[in-house]
Amino acid sequence: MGETPPSVPTDQGHDRACFQTRGLTRVFGEGTTQVRALRGVDLTIPSGEVVVLLGASGSGKSTLLNILGGLDRATDGAFEFRGRDMTTITDTALTRFRRDHVGFVFQFYNLMPSLTARENVELVTEIAADPMPALEALDLVGLAERADHFPAEMSGGEQQRVAIARAIAKRPEVMLCDEPTGALDSATGVRVLQALKRVNRDLGSTVLLITHNAGVAAMADRVITLADGEVRESRRNEHPVEPEALSW
Ligand SMILES: Nc1ncnc2c1ncn2[C@@H]1O[C@H](COP(=O)(O)OP(=O)(O)OP(=O)(O)O)[C@@H](O)[C@H]1O
Ligand SMILES: [Mg+2]
Repeated sequence: MGETPPSVPTDQGHDRACFQTRGLTRVFGEGTTQVRALRGVDLTIPSGEVVVLLGASGSGKSTLLNILGGLDRATDGAFEFRGRDMTTITDTALTRFRRDHVGFVFQFYNLMPSLTARENVELVTEIAADPMPALEALDLVGLAERADHFPAEMSGGEQQRVAIARAIAKRPEVMLCDEPTGALDSATGVRVLQALKRVNRDLGSTVLLITHNAGVAAMADRVITLADGEVRESRRNEHPVEPEALSW
């Protein structure tokens, strides 16, 4: 087997948008049970920003995140990742995009209970192209000293930070986070948001963060609000605050 080229050729600067969508549409089902989850989403998400995605339940937030991350395909419309059209690429290329460039964090941490924190992170570093050592990833989220603990020995917030360490260990260009603080109290949630902000600052990863918590928008560089599968508002926040200033 020869060397495989990177799945998505990217330029290193931050001059290109991370994501650009045009008329992005996602329809689930057919006939009377048809749901139009996205109805023509036009968005630009610049590289290096922390973007908070708000919207009522059912407004299409997770659907959009899953399409941008290559977990799902749009029904219609297009999107680009750093200038490369993603709607026409093969499933194999989409899988490699996801593996090489995207870190996912979900509300439930999905850690392997029989593995330590370090081993959970190593599950990813074993397959990534240019991973950081698992301990370094755990250190970035403030958990280096807990590396040999099992998930059951950690709090919810600590488990979520292990999940973030697992996602960042492959040095993703994009972090896609679907309600990462949804199961956490305010103080614990703030530590998780601090970890995400640190990844943004230290690795330059673009962070897209879904939350039901309008207060979290204060830490964003950009706030996007979805309503009924459409973008109701996309605004830049001129004065983002540090996560530690947030509470809910
Ligand atoms: N696999 C699916 N099959 C059918 N309908 C779906 C599917 N996934 C999502 N939907 C529908 O698409 C719409 C948008 O769902 P989505 O999960 O994107 O909303 P959301 O904004 O993330 O909501 P929440 O805040 O509750 O997580 C909803 O009406 C939902 O029922
Ligand atoms: Mg959702």
